[in-house]
Amino acid sequence: MLSSLILLSLATAISAECHREFLKNSTDTYINAQTLGQYENVKSLIFDFAPYNENNIPTALEGGILATPIKIDFARSVHDTVQCATFTELIAASNPHPYVIHTRMEFDANKMKASRIESIVTDKGDWLFNATGTLALNEPEKWDAIPKAQQDSRAVIQSIGDAYFDRFGNVSVVVPWGPPCYRVEGGLPAKGTLTASGDCVMEWPSTIHVPYRRYVVDEQYGVVSLFVGFPGLDRTQGEDPMPDSHVFRVEGGKLKYLHTASACVVEGCGLNSTFGGGL
Ligand SMILES: *[C@@H]1O[C@H](CO)[C@@H](O)[C@H](O)[C@H]1NC(C)=O
Ligand SMILES: *[C@@H]1O[C@H](CO)[C@@H](O)[C@H](O)[C@H]1NC(C)=O
Ligand SMILES: *[C@@H]1O[C@H](CO)[C@@H](O)[C@H](O)[C@H]1NC(C)=O
Ligand SMILES: *[C@@H]1O[C@H](CO)[C@@H](O)[C@H](O)[C@H]1NC(C)=O
Repeated sequence: MLSSLILLSLATAISAECHREFLKNSTDTYINAQTLGQYENVKSLIFDFAPYNENNIPTALEGGILATPIKIDFARSVHDTVQCATFTELIAASNPHPYVIHTRMEFDANKMKASRIESIVTDKGDWLFNATGTLALNEPEKWDAIPKAQQDSRAVIQSIGDAYFDRFGNVSVVVPWGPPCYRVEGGLPAKGTLTASGDCVMEWPSTIHVPYRRYVVDEQYGVVSLFVGFPGLDRTQGEDPMPDSHVFRVEGGKLKYLHTASACVVEGCGLNSTFGGGL
């Protein structure tokens, strides 16, 4: 009994390795499927009946965005070999119907199949949506692989994503934010103020608790992706958390770039233009 348990856990440990090549193949398959509108190709990646959520709503693959061919102008994926998960950012500005789509996939490392896929699909009318703006702002940014010796730890990278959201509910939280000191909020640059010491000072509300955090961390690229439920400024209105994705690029322990995609579920997304706009 004991020995078979040990053998079983050994086998699990061996087969549970999640390789970057496998994850890359999966994000490539996903991007190709979205380009062609061939949702069937994504079925090969997932377990039968694995949940697919679009803007937090359980959706059949054939009834969702993957059934629509989209001309993708820019795609970026990161791969988390520890959690066996991926994040992909798609910018489709020149498609007749522009979109910005953020997708995360969680895999079962033993079965090499996705156990969950969720997408934030944003288009006209969503929070500060402007795919042309997103594409233009993304263009000069460098999210290249970071040499091993300069990589931050997974814990440091993730802590910066957490600090960003913790700051929404706690004015004392310090977010280590360096130059160039802006974030791509939907399709607009939200600029902060760079101090003489090279810190970036941003405006935040301080009364918002941001729950439902789901992470993908890729230390080779200094990236953490968080899918969250973004509550409205006024919870007394009973607003549902807004389906929201933030992806952060960290270099040398400092936040460098940040892109957001937020799908409005209520008019004004429960936020108003006081925060987040071109400020
Ligand atoms: C992914 O791997 C499968 C085999 O497991 C292969 O058939 C397929 O062509 C690969 N896809 C891509 C996009 O590399
Ligand atoms: C979207 O962004 C582009 C590029 O910054 C800008 O030229 C355009 O005016 C913006 N469109 C809207 C509707 O804000
Ligand atoms: C607010 O943040 C500060 C600094 O990180 C921390 O010491 C404090 O415990 C936090 N307060 C709450 C209520 O979480
Ligand atoms: C936006 O929200 C802020 C903070 O709750 C509030 O003070 C302001 O009046 C709101 N503005 C509009 C136009 O609703």
